[in-house]
Amino acid sequence: MGIDHWIQLVYVLSAVCFILALHWLSSVPTARRGVITGVVGMVLAVGGTLLRPEVAHYQWIAVAFVIGTVIGIPMAMMPMTAVPQRTALSHAFGALAAALVGTAEYFLRAGHQGMDRFTMGALTLEVILGFLTFTASLMATGKLQEILPQRPITYRGQNVVNLGILGAAAAIAVVLVIHPGSHSLFLLMAALALTFGVLLIVPIGGADMPTVISLLNSYAGLSAAAMGFVLNNKLLIIAGSLDGSSGLILSIIMCKAMNRSFANVLFGAFGQVSGAVAETGEKKTYRSASAEEAAGILLNASSVVVVPGYGMAAAQAQHKVRELYDALSRNGVNVRFAIHPVAGRMPGHMNVLLAEANIPYDALVDLDEANSELPQADVALVIGANDVTNPAARHDTGSPIYGMPIIDTDKARTVMVIKRSMNPGFAGVDNELYYLDRTLMLFGDAKSFVGELVKEVQAQGGQHAA
Ligand code: TAP
Repeated sequence: MGIDHWIQLVYVLSAVCFILALHWLSSVPTARRGVITGVVGMVLAVGGTLLRPEVAHYQWIAVAFVIGTVIGIPMAMMPMTAVPQRTALSHAFGALAAALVGTAEYFLRAGHQGMDRFTMGALTLEVILGFLTFTASLMATGKLQEILPQRPITYRGQNVVNLGILGAAAAIAVVLVIHPGSHSLFLLMAALALTFGVLLIVPIGGADMPTVISLLNSYAGLSAAAMGFVLNNKLLIIAGSLDGSSGLILSIIMCKAMNRSFANVLFGAFGQVSGAVAETGEKKTYRSASAEEAAGILLNASSVVVVPGYGMAAAQAQHKVRELYDALSRNGVNVRFAIHPVAGRMPGHMNVLLAEANIPYDALVDLDEANSELPQADVALVIGANDVTNPAARHDTGSPIYGMPIIDTDKARTVMVIKRSMNPGFAGVDNELYYLDRTLMLFGDAKSFVGELVKEVQAQGGQHAA
């Protein structure tokens, strides 16, 4: 068997690893196996490529390897809450690589060696998607890291300008497919794609970024798949298509769970009204309680459903939540965690945090299961969640979250909500849950309040036992 056959065999194994990785990543208990399989697939892909006879010198690859490692290791050390911007930065690098490979191939082959129209079409797609994803992902990173202003910036005619620029790039691509020789047109197309990437993100609020990042992930994947057609590399076509389709599916899942359309995420400037809506509402009354009172209620309950949200992530309260789970379980209270698909700010945010704190998987229930348990639950304990518990989503047709599936915490006998103030959450709307007779507000930072609850449960639990 010649070297080329061995390379193809390595590529097939690599593709199998990528498919299995995606399959295993779809559930929490197998997610680690999925990550390791993905890493093995990538090592095989890189190893197979390095065996190719065209790779004559390894010194530049070694330099790139060192630079990549120096950048990659600190990126992997970022805190959990910075994962969305870290992911956006990875997409920026991946997309830039695809766009630069496309550019190099264009200047090497088009016009000289000739390039058939199909390959030239794939190349223009690769370059447009690659460059626009590069700048859009950098902008997304900037907004999420708060280097750039998070608020959406809109102006009249914005969509026309943006679509006009993209349309112009697409028109140049068509001309290049017919007459590939015009280098200046190619450079203009690349510049338009880079500009479009920046303008695409300007009207999108920081909080909508996770959905957009998942869409950019899809674009980077499609760019890599197009690169596979240009380089005649089947592994790139497979891996790029997997990336492209999984990114798209994830964006659709996120939009559905938020009851939003793609158009609304991309052009809707959501989150702009944040705060204003709550301020204009009439004065309503709510009740608050201390950690001591709350611990007493928890200890008298036989079943408690905990609903974690973005505030638990922001406060890094997951380890204290684990201590509370242990303390209540020791006192015979059945504790379950209700996980909303878009709680927090990235897919699987709550699952990852609770897994980090070693909370058993079987204590986690999904939205439907939680909603069937809540009418029988003694207490719903909301920890830093807001929108995902707002009953307005069920009946208020004028609410921006109308139609979003929610966790029915209002159906529990008692509701307790840990948050710092009466401020709204991501959608900028007041939560009618807080004003119910059965609701007690527990004001404080999630980490310190849950810490106090643990101490009280331990102290009062001991008295109960005595
Ligand atoms: P939110 O509705 O954003 O509410 C989080 C609450 O946490 C806030 O009301 C805030 O109230 C509280 N909080 C913040 N820091 C806290 C701290 N240190 N200690 C205690 N509480 C704290 O969160 P959610 O219920 O998880 O809903 C997620 C929202 O994000 C949904 O609207 C969803 O559509 C959107 N979204 C989600 C995703 C994904 S994929 N998960 C992606 C994009 C958008 P205080 O300020 O009063 O403390």
